[in-house]
Amino acid sequence: MSDKTADRVERVRSAEDLSRDQREISISEFFEKNRHLLGYDNKVKALLTVVREAVDNSLDACETARIVPDIKVSVKLVSGMKDRYVISVEDNGPGIVKQNIGRVFGKLLFGSKFHKLLQSRGQQGIGISGAVLYSQLTSGKPAKIVTSTGDGKTHCMDLMIDTFKNEPEIIKEDVREGKNWHGVKIELEAEGKYVEHQQSISEYLKQTALSNPYAEIIYDSPDGKIKFERSVKTLPEEPKSIKPHPHGVEIGILRRMLRTTEARTLTGFFTTDFSRVGQSSAKEIIRLAKFGEDVNPKNIDGPQVEKLFQAVQQVQLIKPPLDCLSPLREKLIEEGLKKQLKPEYVVAITRPPDVYRGNPFQIEVGVAYGGELPPDSVAALYRFANRVPLMYQAGDCALAKAVSEIEWRRYGLEQASGAALPTGPIAIFVHIASVWVPFTSESKEAIASYPEIIKEVKLALQEAGRKLSIYVNKKRRAGEAALRMSLFEKYIPEVADALARLSGAEKGKIAAKLENMLKKGKVVIEDTEEPEKPAGKEDDA
Ligand SMILES: Nc1ncnc2c1ncn2[C@@H]1O[C@H](COP(=O)(O)OP(=O)(O)OP(=O)(O)O)[C@@H](O)[C@H]1O
Ligand SMILES: [Mg+2]
Repeated sequence: MSDKTADRVERVRSAEDLSRDQREISISEFFEKNRHLLGYDNKVKALLTVVREAVDNSLDACETARIVPDIKVSVKLVSGMKDRYVISVEDNGPGIVKQNIGRVFGKLLFGSKFHKLLQSRGQQGIGISGAVLYSQLTSGKPAKIVTSTGDGKTHCMDLMIDTFKNEPEIIKEDVREGKNWHGVKIELEAEGKYVEHQQSISEYLKQTALSNPYAEIIYDSPDGKIKFERSVKTLPEEPKSIKPHPHGVEIGILRRMLRTTEARTLTGFFTTDFSRVGQSSAKEIIRLAKFGEDVNPKNIDGPQVEKLFQAVQQVQLIKPPLDCLSPLREKLIEEGLKKQLKPEYVVAITRPPDVYRGNPFQIEVGVAYGGELPPDSVAALYRFANRVPLMYQAGDCALAKAVSEIEWRRYGLEQASGAALPTGPIAIFVHIASVWVPFTSESKEAIASYPEIIKEVKLALQEAGRKLSIYVNKKRRAGEAALRMSLFEKYIPEVADALARLSGAEKGKIAAKLENMLKKGKVVIEDTEEPEKPAGKEDDA
């Protein structure tokens, strides 16, 4: 046998070997090995991620059912064990029907939100099952679920995830009759480390209370109980779900939609499966792609999809409907900031909705100033996406980037040169609401830098900055006047004495008159809309 043939035989063998190793990987196995992608990359962050996934779901469920949320969170050290905690989250939401309990908690990529374009906290269908996976991986214990839909039956289930199959494995199950409640309680045991710091659970819950001022949250922490009371009793308006806009759909999605549509003709496909495509736009797309209007969408494949995709891009369409979003709006932001931070001044701005890659989004900001905010530190920045606090990866986040591009000095604030944030008693709140939030990863911590998003945040901050500068300037002037007055006050006895000697009038009377004059001249700071002198050239948005 020549060397060449031996080589060839060797190669054929290795290909066969390879094929024996090639097999499907279940999504659970994938995340079992890649838990950092879901936010479980260290013990401190892992505890927060478990709480966050459960609380986000509870708030989503309550709002969908239009129930004002009451949420109880508990994090307790397992006695006798280091770095092992029992985490439980309970809500008063609609509960979960018996047949879905297993899959909600024991199957990754199972959920009610992924296939909808609807503003919600969850979108992917891996949040809570990811937490169950992390818990069983680090404690070996099942998740304990208790739920009722309000029919008098309470379902209790202990379950684990069979990671090879990505299916729930029910360990124990029972039904209790008689208790009249609705909601979900999940209890997980997991490895973690409890540290109070900027990204701790209590900070996350404080920020959650800020952006969800209609929720009551009770947190039983290893250090004791904290109650975040609601500051308003009504839920924000209900978001509406929308169909995809053709300009926001990638070619692969278009191909999938063509295959799964129920429409029988291409015209029907475009007018019923998308938003903002009327008969004439549909006809225009089809004409540009050189297809017949009655072609069955299921018969379009291969290069034809590309042709259709290109035609879609060429046709001008109206923006997607923008009334599908549910921003917090100025009043709720201001109430939340006042209640949680106790500042002396707040201003909030809700921008009109806009669109990135075919997806509607809306930016709102709030700025709190003075009061109980720490006077000499760098401003606190609170970032939110669909009302969820974003606690990590500020460096990669479009919201933080936009804040750092504002020149805060123009608005009367102090800012060290080159610093991203101003210094002083200031807290900045930035919220993006969208039907699909462009997170940079599955752990949902930072927003991708779409220019449309950055521009909107900057416009909102500039507007808030202008209003804040009116207050800050007034306060500064009032401070200066007070200083002058206190100096004058100090010299009243001497001035009164000299005047008494010159005029022969009674010294006491002169002093009283001078004091009265001072009182009348006192400057009162009020939050008026009266325009100040311009704060210089605006930052470019
Ligand atoms: N507390 C709850 N009450 C009612 N339904 C819930 C609750 N928690 C989860 N669900 C249901 O279970 C589904 C799966 O939850 P999961 O957190 O895994 O995914 P998600 O919230 O849809 O998306 P994400 O992965 O982004 O969190 C949800 O879509 C929701 O339908
Ligand atoms: Mg979720």
